[in-house]
Amino acid sequence: MILDACCGPKMMYKGLHRQFTQDEIIFMDIRKGIFPLDKWNVPPVIVEPDIIADIHHLPFRDSIFSLILFDPPHGSFGVEAYFGAKYGGLTPKEYVSLLIWANIEFARVLTPDGYVFAKIHETQERHTRAVHNFSNFKLLMDISYRSQARKNTSETSTHWLVFVKKSADTLSKADGSDTPKHPDQKRPRQLSRQEPAQPVTSLSDFSYP
Ligand SMILES: C[S@@+](CC[C@H](N)C(=O)[O-])C[C@H]1O[C@@H](n2cnc3c(N)ncnc32)[C@H](O)[C@@H]1O
Repeated sequence: MILDACCGPKMMYKGLHRQFTQDEIIFMDIRKGIFPLDKWNVPPVIVEPDIIADIHHLPFRDSIFSLILFDPPHGSFGVEAYFGAKYGGLTPKEYVSLLIWANIEFARVLTPDGYVFAKIHETQERHTRAVHNFSNFKLLMDISYRSQARKNTSETSTHWLVFVKKSADTLSKADGSDTPKHPDQKRPRQLSRQEPAQPVTSLSDFSYP
């Protein structure tokens, strides 16, 4: 079974995901709804996950996924920026927190031979942080390409990283006893059952408490 942990509008599938059932791939995101992009004269973004949840608290039992797809927000853009409105945004602090808990939660829900396929947009040292913080995994591949995201923006790099889960006796656990100490290590509160029913209309609606 595959988990797309932050599926957003599922742009990267170009429709291919429709051939898979929910027994094969689960789409998750922290938000759900229709997000207007009128300002840029493009159609709205539709985010329609199977499950609304936060990577900090994956609502799954241990060892059930063989592959996790991980494409976190590209930068700390606000909703006033195109990428922020379309894909969400994380401050550098939120980004590190997400990586620290993704490292723990992904290792927990992955099977022993499971792996993570991560797409990291290289802004604000995000690539370095991702590689550094994924201590429960060994980096197998790092494929990058340079692109010009939109007109009048500077060139950026995108990395496609394949991480393989390390053996069980070396994994960091969620109780924190063997996780590296870090100021952003504290796990944010879990989404309550009522929260997911409300589609977010601004990025601050799903920033971390
Ligand atoms: C770059 S977009 C994903 C784009 C997607 N891969 C696609 O093909 O369209 C990042 C997504 O991560 C989601 N996200 C941000 N923080 C999250 C979290 N803590 N848990 C789950 N999803 C999160 C955002 O809502 C956003 O939809």
